[in-house]
Parts: sequence; C-alpha cells; structure tokens
Amino acid sequence: MDVYQAIYKRRTIRKFKQQKIDRKVLEKLIDAARFAPSGNNLQPVKYRIVEEPEEVAKVFEQVKWAGYIAPEGNPKKGEEPVAFIMVLADTNIRKAGYELDVGAAVQNLLLSAVEEGIGTCWIGSVNRDNVRNILNIPENLVISTAIALGYPAEEPVSEEEQGSIKYYKDSNGVLHVPKRALRDIIINS
Ligand SMILES: Cc1cc2nc3c(=O)[nH]c(=O)nc-3n(C[C@H](O)[C@H](O)[C@H](O)COP(=O)(O)O)c2cc1C
Repeated sequence: MDVYQAIYKRRTIRKFKQQKIDRKVLEKLIDAARFAPSGNNLQPVKYRIVEEPEEVAKVFEQVKWAGYIAPEGNPKKGEEPVAFIMVLADTNIRKAGYELDVGAAVQNLLLSAVEEGIGTCWIGSVNRDNVRNILNIPENLVISTAIALGYPAEEPVSEEEQGSIKYYKDSNGVLHVPKRALRDIIINS
C-alpha cells in the first residue's frame, strides 16, 4: 500500500472484532510514530500501551465516542476496542507546545495501522483524571489523547461535504464522513 492509499483508506473505526492485536504490532505502530517530525527534535511524546482486557475495559469507561451521533456511534457490546494506546507528553522534556508533535506522531501511527489492517479511533474526549489513576501515570506525563485500536468490524465511507460536516449513519448503519471539497480549502483556488 502506498502512502496515498493509506491516507484515503483510513477512516475512524468505532466497531471492532474481538481479536487481540499482537504486542509486537502495537510496538511497531509506536515505532512508526517515533519517526515523526518534532519541534526542536525534542520528541516529548510518550505512550502507554493498554492491552490487558481488564485494563482495556476500565479505560473504555473513560472515553466518549462520536459526539454527533451519540449514543448511536458507541461501540456496542462485543464491538469494543481490544487495546488503547494512551498518548502522553513528557513535560520534563517540553513544558508546553507539544500538541503539534502529538499530531504528527499520532497520524504516523494511524496510517501505519491501516497498513496492518488495524482500525483506530483517535479520542480527545477522555476523563484524564480517572485514566491517570487507573493506569498510574506519573504527574510529569500529560495525558494528551487516546487511540482505540482493533481489527475493524465496519467500513465507514467518506464523501464530499454537502452543507454539513457532521458524520452520520445511513439506513444500513454505514457511517458517512463528509470531507470539505478541495476548492473550499485552498483559499486562492
Ligand atoms: C484531535 C481529535 C480528537 C478526536 N476525538 C474523538 C473522540 O473523543 N471520540 C470519537 O469518537 N472520535 C474522535 N475523533 C475522531 C473524529 O471524529 C474523526 O476523525 C472525524 O469524524 C473524521 O473522520 P475520519 O477520521 O474517518 O476521517 C477525534 C479526532 C481528532 C483528530
């Protein structure tokens, strides 16, 4: 798969097969994130793998899904992610301004997951205090976001935006994701 194929193929997945992801594969994805660009090459982004079923279930309780179509977009029983990767910023390395580094690193990870046949959902809506306690995350590590992972059990489609950017499910339960047209984002087109 070339980079463009992965970019266009990647969609946020919120329904997963209950099939474990090998730890080595999770580490491979994080290794791809490791090679992302970083301001001043400081590389403040760190990761906590969550793969033990009990821990996954606890973290699952602390995240929110698909706000535009809640609760319809929540993974149902038997469709939950099988792992999370918590994305952390080490404030001992960089006090503030690490968000762009996180973005670059996470996108590397999400695209690499496409290559591995793994679905992902990048989650900003996280109860960070609870997750810190559950996973015992030290204070110097800011909990930026979470990535839910699993082999996909849905195939969302993208389409050109027609008046609304809100994703929706059609009568067959397929998730549609509107993307703004190229002419609408290049300001001198
Ligand atoms: C920074 C960020 C935070 C997000 N937070 C959530 C979230 O809390 N819950 C969720 O279900 N999806 C979340 N998403 C996924 C977006 O809803 C999704 O990327 C968007 O609808 C476009 O769909 P696509 O990823 O398939 O292109 C987040 C995405 C980003 C980039």
